[in-house]
Amino acid sequence: MPSAKELIEAARAARAHAYAPYSSFAVGAAVETVDGTVITGSNVENASYGLSLCAERAALVRAIAQGHRRFRAIAIAGPEGATTAPCGACRQFIAEFDRTMPVTFTSPDGVVATTLAELLPYPFTGDALSPK
Ligand code: THU
Repeated sequence: MPSAKELIEAARAARAHAYAPYSSFAVGAAVETVDGTVITGSNVENASYGLSLCAERAALVRAIAQGHRRFRAIAIAGPEGATTAPCGACRQFIAEFDRTMPVTFTSPDGVVATTLAELLPYPFTGDALSPK
């Protein structure tokens, strides 16, 4: 099982694969599945800016596509000196799989440890639309 430190290190390493020619803001993310597997992602931008994909969603999509559905934590790493908390869209995306997932992210003051419940207290759940 990776430690919290190892998970943020995996996120930091994933920044190397960011495709961010428009913003130059390289982000890496690492999700830990319940079986201890670590799956990383990086942001992938597009000339049509709005199509750009955040590192968090890239990591989660990779994990889901590999058959994982349950997660223990997610870590996000951005450039030094930046606060790289997950954007609102990513918070909602994470909430689909775990509304209380531990979340760590880099900031100028060091690594911030929080939870999705704190970052997004009222996710849209769809209630009647809930997955069967
Ligand atoms: N970005 C992420 O990948 N994750 C975040 O949590 C915040 C923003 C990306 C999107 C875009 O490619 C770049 O960072 C600048 O916004």
